[in-house]
Amino acid sequence: MSMRSLATVAALAGAAFAAPAPAKTTDVSATTTTLLATATNKAFGLNDAAKQAGKLWFGTAVDIPGTGEAQDKFYFREFKSPHDFGEATPANIMKFDATEPEQNSFNFTGGDYFLDVAEQYGKQVRCHNLIWQSQLPNWVNNPATPWTNKTLSKVLVNHVTNLVEHFGDRCYSWDVVNEAFADSPAGDYQKNVWFNNIGPEYVPMAFAAAQKVIEKNGLKVKLYYNDYNIESPGAKTTAALNLVSELKGRGIQIDGVGLESHFIVGSTPSYHQQLQTKRAFVREGVEVVITELDVRATLPPSAAEQTQQVQDYYDSVKSCVDVAGCVGIVVWDFDDTYSWVPSTFAGQGYADLFFQPHGANHPLVKKAAYDGVLEALTGAAEGV
Ligand SMILES: *[C@@H]1O[C@H](CO)[C@@H](O)[C@H](O)[C@H]1NC(C)=O
Ligand SMILES: *[C@@H]1O[C@H](CO)[C@@H](O)[C@H](O)[C@H]1NC(C)=O
Repeated sequence: MSMRSLATVAALAGAAFAAPAPAKTTDVSATTTTLLATATNKAFGLNDAAKQAGKLWFGTAVDIPGTGEAQDKFYFREFKSPHDFGEATPANIMKFDATEPEQNSFNFTGGDYFLDVAEQYGKQVRCHNLIWQSQLPNWVNNPATPWTNKTLSKVLVNHVTNLVEHFGDRCYSWDVVNEAFADSPAGDYQKNVWFNNIGPEYVPMAFAAAQKVIEKNGLKVKLYYNDYNIESPGAKTTAALNLVSELKGRGIQIDGVGLESHFIVGSTPSYHQQLQTKRAFVREGVEVVITELDVRATLPPSAAEQTQQVQDYYDSVKSCVDVAGCVGIVVWDFDDTYSWVPSTFAGQGYADLFFQPHGANHPLVKKAAYDGVLEALTGAAEGV
């Protein structure tokens, strides 16, 4: 794939529509660097284009209720746009610490609210997540009596059962197990509280518990495994592929794999690597979703890095467009103001498709990367 100039990006994106708004570049002098932005036709957005490409939706993570996002009317207005977002993933409110803060005492208030809002604005929801090593309540991490395989297995099954039962088919899918595999040595299981007490069997155990509720209640909700660094070939990807094949072989339900896709400008896996990996999962008999896409840079990004980001977003989204079994694309938030990146990776940011030149509670501006995504979704030619 060749690099394009930003003017080409805008021209190609515009060419896909009947009445394209003229592309323009906005200089933002308030920031330490000039950020490139374009303006595209508002009446046809990322979600419209994703559906036209045969996908279920283009979606975003959103962190509501009770956060700055919920209070920022400019952010929220963009979130509501059915043209851009047809799916919403709860960034935090369905995680273990939020939903079972005390043992066997469930709090569904925030999760129910999230679903009410998503449904009000016509968005499907990928429910996230059931079993993970992070964002656990203290009672799981520091139990009064040390866990045994038996006592922690009961906790795991109880959590999965209650959440799948409560939220039911309001979830398009559940990320049943999140990030079970380590980066180093790649493909080993993460040595977390679940693994240390239950062993690798905690993963099938979680899927089987969810499956049981689905069968008992006649639900349609799909069961996903979700992880990062499984977007291109490698040991961790092989471990995830083997997990799918093991579960299927044992008759345990798994419907999909979430490829998180938290990328870095310039070291994003190529279109071909991403295409090959998505095809490999689909061949195992599951669907795939890009579940947490963002492309971060060291701040401030140079003009070349901003241009590279357009290409990185394009390659990632195009690799989903070109695989029928890749059913949707979700970004891990769409506005730099609320990105998880700066607080997690010191000195990095600029990861999302929009930014607020004047900060929170001020208008959003689309980056050129937005047009790169739109171009990938509409199938506009990209020098192949
Ligand atoms: C339940 O969760 C909601 C939403 O996060 C929170 O406002 C409320 O205080 C929680 N309730 C209890 C009893 O902890
Ligand atoms: C924990 O118990 C399950 C059965 O409930 C078993 O399959 C698994 O191997 C056990 N794990 C260990 C580490 O013994």
